[in-house]
Amino acid sequence: MRIKGKTKICVLLGYPLGHTLSPLMQNAAFSYRRLDYLYVPWEVRPENLERAVAALQVWENFRGANVTIPHKERILGLVDRLSPEAQAIGAVNCLSLREGCLFGDNTDGKGFLLSLQEEAGVEVEGKRILLFGAGGAARAVAFALAWSGARRISLVNRTREKAEVLASHLRGFAPSCHVEAHSLDGGDLPDLIRESEIVVNCTSVGLSPKDPPLFDHRFFEASSLVCDLIYNPQETRFLEAARRAGCRTIGGLGMLLHQGALSFELWTGEKAPLQTMRRALEGALGFRT
Ligand code: ATR
Repeated sequence: MRIKGKTKICVLLGYPLGHTLSPLMQNAAFSYRRLDYLYVPWEVRPENLERAVAALQVWENFRGANVTIPHKERILGLVDRLSPEAQAIGAVNCLSLREGCLFGDNTDGKGFLLSLQEEAGVEVEGKRILLFGAGGAARAVAFALAWSGARRISLVNRTREKAEVLASHLRGFAPSCHVEAHSLDGGDLPDLIRESEIVVNCTSVGLSPKDPPLFDHRFFEASSLVCDLIYNPQETRFLEAARRAGCRTIGGLGMLLHQGALSFELWTGEKAPLQTMRRALEGALGFRT
């Protein structure tokens, strides 16, 4: 690629930035669409975040950013405007420019919804959904599900109090959705799974194949669609057990892809080349297709 004086720049803002697939995915998309854009990592220590955001506002080439750990929450107070999603979730993962203003959005939850639609043809309206976890990822997914008309969301978390806090926020934002909080070791898990059309792992359990299972996988019911937000390994033990129980399964790559595609569209105004982006991700992860 040829970088010019006017090349438009998008950055990934985080600290530290170890293994990230976003530069690969976004640059593949820019190059496929023949856009004079470049996506680069930008490691910014927490104590420098304010100055970094100020620098973005005077950088004429700047067109957008993804925001990752540890800045997703703190950056809320540093942007000019926020989407309703970012405001409710309390985290920003995407910055773009709107009429010269820095706009903070959250595309994680929408990315998950799109992966359900595209990979399983599933709409969440009217569905009963069980989410494992109550951290940042669970929060983004739960809000997107509640706003899309889920009938019931059962939050199951190791620390029940965290599920309670998230449940009460969700009830405030989506009063028509029935939200419950449960603890992971409560005896009601088999019933909850049986009653849920969609089951999602939003915890970090499974990132390592050595992780002990979150719960007794014999509880899976063949009628559920089972999703894991983890994209590496391609099939976690959670998903493998669900598949063996006869469930349809979806891994986390689709959410990574779609949140990136939504960012691309905000920055360029063009439709994201999904196949190109997916191939870039699968190639880097060594997935079989
Ligand atoms: P993320 O931003 O990826 O969601 P997080 O906010 O740290 O990360 O949340 C991690 C989630 O995984 C939490 O729901 C956490 O449960 P607790 O709230 O009880 O900490 C869950 N989690 C992590 N390790 C776990 C384990 N070994 N068993 C069960 N749940 C676990």
